[in-house]
Amino acid sequence: MSEVEKVRKRKKLIRPRGKRGGIKHSKSKNQSNKHALAIAKYHALEKKIARCTDEAERATLIAEQQESGGLTNYQDQSTTGGSVIRGGESAKWCAQVLKEVLPAETKIRLLDIGGIAGTAYEKYDWIEATYLDLNPRAPHVHLSDFFDWPIPSAAERYDVVGLSLVLNFVGDLAKRGEMLLHAHQYLRPRGYVYLVLPLACVNNSRYMTHDHLRAIIESAGYDVVRQDDSARLTRWLIQQRKPKRTKSGNSPLDTVRRKYYDGTVFKKQELLAGAQRNNFFPDIMAAKQVAEGVISSLNIDKSKVGVMELDERNDGSDIQGYLKEKTSQGTVPNIFISGKHLGGCDSLMSAQSSGELDKLVASL
Ligand SMILES: C[S@@+](CC[C@H](N)C(=O)[O-])C[C@H]1O[C@@H](n2cnc3c(N)ncnc32)[C@H](O)[C@@H]1O
Repeated sequence: MSEVEKVRKRKKLIRPRGKRGGIKHSKSKNQSNKHALAIAKYHALEKKIARCTDEAERATLIAEQQESGGLTNYQDQSTTGGSVIRGGESAKWCAQVLKEVLPAETKIRLLDIGGIAGTAYEKYDWIEATYLDLNPRAPHVHLSDFFDWPIPSAAERYDVVGLSLVLNFVGDLAKRGEMLLHAHQYLRPRGYVYLVLPLACVNNSRYMTHDHLRAIIESAGYDVVRQDDSARLTRWLIQQRKPKRTKSGNSPLDTVRRKYYDGTVFKKQELLAGAQRNNFFPDIMAAKQVAEGVISSLNIDKSKVGVMELDERNDGSDIQGYLKEKTSQGTVPNIFISGKHLGGCDSLMSAQSSGELDKLVASL
């Protein structure tokens, strides 16, 4: 090796990488791993809490979550590389694309769910943001669960609802999907939802891909206006479709389903194999939820509806086996009306649209 090459090689080795420099870089990687582990633990506990039906066990899980610092610690860890107070990383993309799709000089009202410190949109004077969080870190951020935030009158609806890194936070898979539908109620006609998820939720999940998420979004009554991935995040600007003409349902959510949901039932099925992958899936239109929606919209005495949750019973798989033998249907929900087998969710929905269902339940 020539002297010049030796000097070049030495220089290359000692040159610090990025702002942090070589040695500090590996220390900060450890730190990020620690943050990632804390976040993963919080999410795992959140899912267990959502699934848990035993009060005592639930209390133990909540205590475990509190012992590790609770939501405040989670918020601190989940903003690795930036401060909770600064915020705004994903808001920049949202502001850019809104500028592109909206007429010049438009001022907008935005409802930011999971707004933590309420700073994400502060530098955009054309965005009037209202922030909500389960654990607000500034006085102007409202302490509220999105599901409890009052539904505004038509004149007060928002132009945009921000769901940045919120869907993946929710432990109850059904609530993830519900959140997307729930957002319709806060939007002015043809308003937008800004949806952000960790990129791994779509490119490294056994049950999700970009195409699958797009199909779910579309079935929930939105058009994808812009989609883009950064190194860490997948970002979607989606726009509310024109609602279907329909009569109101039995609850606000039922009405939203009727107006915007196109009827596709998404089953949790493996799309990408691999034990190392995560299992992100917004159970947006799980057959069970759809069936519940249809049943709750029926004009019948609800005490006459019986539900047996097979995954919550020790003999659940025996019952499922027996049902398969009797009805040739091994999937759930497996619906009977007055002892007569109707079928699964698809059969329930076609019976509803043909009017057959109303006839079947009329004598109940
Ligand atoms: C990972 S942080 C996201 C912060 C910020 N939006 C961002 O993009 O960086 C998730 C936040 O969502 C909040 N959150 C989760 N579910 C919520 C709900 N149902 N209503 C209001 N806030 C919620 C949590 O309290 C948490 O602060």
